[in-house]
Amino acid sequence: MPELGDDLIGDTLLTSEQIQARIAELGAEIARDYDGRVPILVSVLKGAFIFVADLVRAVPIPLEIDFMAVSSYGASTRSSGVVRIVKDLDVDLNDRHVIIVEDIIDSGLTLRYLRKTLESRGTASLEVCALLVREGNQQAELDLRYVGFRIPPSFVIGYGLDVGERYRNLPHIADYRGGE
Ligand code: IMP
Ligand code: MG
Repeated sequence: MPELGDDLIGDTLLTSEQIQARIAELGAEIARDYDGRVPILVSVLKGAFIFVADLVRAVPIPLEIDFMAVSSYGASTRSSGVVRIVKDLDVDLNDRHVIIVEDIIDSGLTLRYLRKTLESRGTASLEVCALLVREGNQQAELDLRYVGFRIPPSFVIGYGLDVGERYRNLPHIADYRGGE
């Protein structure tokens, strides 16, 4: 096993400034769309923790935040589509306007499971805000209301995104040179 080190941090895909500028736009859009309602932003741990922290500060209307943690089952930890809820929400979603906040959509299987699960709780509406969407991997139409950036099919790290729990603290998003 190669040791994870700085030489595995590849080219910068998105600078911290680019990320913040896009979040300002997304935040303004959400504030406009949800004016007069109090949405609840449901963030999926751990990858989205930095994104949601910056996003909520760019949405100048009353809102609530809650967190969920999920783990994937199956031979492949990613993209198996079989998801177990490790930490559930504290709030009741009945009649609530929910926005799922995700770090990155790859196959979309995790999101599909989450959407189904949360909708079954009687939500008034449910939309998705994803910082990144990797082009080309989604098998079905996902109906993503808010998307930060569509990115090419390489693995990325930083700004909450990890490889083996490392690199979440990079302020920018970079290619990962180590293979998956
Ligand atoms: P999906 O179910 O295939 O859409 O997988 C989405 C999840 O896989 C994300 O929430 C991330 O936790 C993880 N993931 C997918 N691509 C990357 C990446 O490039 N870097 C870090 N994590 C990733
Ligand atoms: Mg991850």
